[in-house]
Amino acid sequence: MRRFENQVVVITGSATGIGAATALRFAAEGARVACLDINDADNEATAEAAQAAGVEALALHCDVRSRDSQHAAFETVKGSWGRLDVLVASAGIYVGGPLPEVPLDRWDDIVAVNLTGVLVSNSLAAPVMTAQGRGSIINIASMAAKTSWPYSAEYSGTKSGVVGITRSAAMELGPHGVTVNAVCAGNTLTDMVRKVAAEVGATVGMGAQEWLDMRANDTALKRLARPEEIAGVVAFLASDDARYLTGQAIEVDGGLVLS
Ligand SMILES: NC(=O)c1ccc[n+]([C@@H]2O[C@H](COP(=O)([O-])OP(=O)(O)OC[C@H]3O[C@@H](n4cnc5c(N)ncnc54)[C@H](O)[C@@H]3O)[C@@H](O)[C@H]2O)c1
Repeated sequence: MRRFENQVVVITGSATGIGAATALRFAAEGARVACLDINDADNEATAEAAQAAGVEALALHCDVRSRDSQHAAFETVKGSWGRLDVLVASAGIYVGGPLPEVPLDRWDDIVAVNLTGVLVSNSLAAPVMTAQGRGSIINIASMAAKTSWPYSAEYSGTKSGVVGITRSAAMELGPHGVTVNAVCAGNTLTDMVRKVAAEVGATVGMGAQEWLDMRANDTALKRLARPEEIAGVVAFLASDDARYLTGQAIEVDGGLVLS
């Protein structure tokens, strides 16, 4: 399937994990992809892998905490390709620990990446997409927005905020033909989840693999997600088949939470 032939897709957090898998999925389906990340080496590797699929791809250094940095990257995309069909806001970090010990500078940083980063990217994409009368924004939230666990107030707080931004943006941009959805991913095998497993596992006296096995066992499917499985749902949300789907926070969690 090449559902996105010649469309322009911007992905934040494209150097590794879910963002990288998403960039490659859109490239495989014919889109031109702009990869925005602070990790230049891995981001360039993502863009090169996208080009190997036969499409144009840009690797742009971008720190999502900075409006200026994101603005410069979006201007480069507009200058290069003149349009923007899909935004995937995937840049994110995990930090966590006991609530009484949360340092405020750490909270400020996770808010800057996970929340300000998403708000700014959505605000930069919105005018381009509304002028086109069509577009899709997909924000990568987390099951931490739908449920939670100890020692993750910072992460859950920011991911719940991503869902709030998504809902309001969907109402605001819907009349202009722009859909806005969030993907609430369950535990997905990326660098981030390995870090979470080590940190949260240690806090509750478990080894990293033991913690990952426990999380897999909590799901109906008895395994964690592959990044490509999250990317597949993102691509669906950007496709013509999802034009009547907006304002939703879609759970892609292998049956972790059944509601
Ligand atoms: N892995 C999981 O289990 C899981 C579950 C639910 C949600 N998520 C979310 O999925 C998204 C992707 O995470 P992942 O698991 O692929 O992890 P990851 O660490 O592999 O990817 C995160 C990417 O964001 C980039 N990034 C971090 N700070 C940035 C900044 N200031 N500016 C620009 N880029 C920045 C990193 O360089 C990296 O490429 C995140 O928003 C994460 O919260 C992950």
